[in-house]
Amino acid sequence: MIVTASLTYRTIDPIADAALVVANHHDACVASFGSDCSYEGAGRYLTWLGGKVEEFPEGCVLAMLGDACVGQMELEVPWGLNTGYVNLYYVMPRFRRLGFGRRMHRYAEQYFRNWEADRIELHVSPTNGPAMDFYLSLGYRRVGGDRGARLIKLAKTVGGNAE
Ligand SMILES: CC(C)(COP(=O)(O)OP(=O)(O)OC[C@H]1O[C@@H](n2cnc3c(N)ncnc32)[C@H](O)[C@@H]1OP(=O)(O)O)[C@@H](O)C(=O)NCCC(=O)NCCS
Repeated sequence: MIVTASLTYRTIDPIADAALVVANHHDACVASFGSDCSYEGAGRYLTWLGGKVEEFPEGCVLAMLGDACVGQMELEVPWGLNTGYVNLYYVMPRFRRLGFGRRMHRYAEQYFRNWEADRIELHVSPTNGPAMDFYLSLGYRRVGGDRGARLIKLAKTVGGNAE
């Protein structure tokens, strides 16, 4: 597939987009842990997401290519902090390995810059090989999580490379 059009971003509507964002969130859980046995459930997720959308509307977005949803990001810069956090980073299966994840990261960096964050942190499952490779390719580096940990912490400076 060759894609030349640019992505647009819109804030998630937790009611109108409920089915889509729950499916994406569930799929990201399976990608992370290999099964959905640790999935928290749609209701709990939507309640949590509603609060995040209210607090960080420009951080909780769907990446759109025309009418098609390409991906979903849930980003935040908690008040008073200069470290941004990635809660969810997701590209729909049919759009993977086409550079969309990398393109979405430009939005993420701009979002963090706008809110004066100079560092980005996230947690990733060490068994999620594609996500690890993806984040390392963007310059994230491991800053926490012992060997055998369920999640490891990655970080990078905004607009720069890892520490
Ligand atoms: C991880 C994810 C966001 C990557 O999105 P993507 O759009 O496929 O990534 P891109 O096409 O922009 O890839 C950028 C670079 O990341 C690396 N990469 C991405 N996917 C990879 C894979 N499956 N295997 C190896 N490297 C990979 C490559 O270096 C790639 O550059 P290249 O294509 O020039 O080699 C996507 O696979 C995804 O949504 N996975 C499920 C959800 C998830 O695990 N999210 C992260 C944890 S919450």
